[in-house]
Amino acid sequence: MEGVTLVDHPLVQHKLTLMRDVKRSTKGFRQLLNEIGMLLCYEVTRDLPIEMIEIETPLTKMMAPTISGKKLVFAPILRAGVGFLDGMLSLVPSARVAHIGLYRDPQTLQAVEYYFKAPQDVEDRLIIVMDPMLATANSATAALERLKERGAKDIRFVCLLAAPEGIAKMRAEHPDVHIWTAAIDEKLNDHGYIVPGLGDAGDRMFGTK
Ligand code: PRP
Ligand code: URA
Repeated sequence: MEGVTLVDHPLVQHKLTLMRDVKRSTKGFRQLLNEIGMLLCYEVTRDLPIEMIEIETPLTKMMAPTISGKKLVFAPILRAGVGFLDGMLSLVPSARVAHIGLYRDPQTLQAVEYYFKAPQDVEDRLIIVMDPMLATANSATAALERLKERGAKDIRFVCLLAAPEGIAKMRAEHPDVHIWTAAIDEKLNDHGYIVPGLGDAGDRMFGTK
């Protein structure tokens, strides 16, 4: 599918299956999300630009590859996006972090913003927006609009589960934003939940239900 990378690595798929299980504990769910965050980070950063620099090993000088450009920005959509953050930061510890606070109104399914804090110079950096769930995509598109208003030009989106409806909306409104996901599920139900899905990611992660 154009603009979408399905991360079918066996470790990701295995861990996702464990997370979907209704019997998975809060602790287990959170730990798995963190581990998958790390694996997805590996995939989403696979083609970062490289430049050669001169270094000196104990034996000799050499030209060696290093990641070029400004530090990345990780942008979790609160709350559930935070579940990816530690795993991603463990691979890219110098990344900047933008917090995007949104909740989905249960009646209208529209995203309501309650917090936004991002580095000033987002226009010069690659932004990786993260949220485990891409359902209607109202939250993801609201986050992207907000970042673009601030000048962001180079954005990628990482999720765990996507609904076909959410992917279609993202492709229509933000075709410049590539999506990485571990699975594309069947559909949304009447309440905007992904089916078969894994339920409410934020509640399962924080034990709030
Ligand atoms: C969930 C999820 C996404 C959003 C996805 O968050 O973490 O942000 O729903 O749904 P959408 O694609 O239809 O917008 P929620 O609003 O439940 O907030 P929470 O993470 O604070 O629980
Ligand atoms: N938000 C979730 O946490 N889960 C869904 O299935 C849809 C939106």
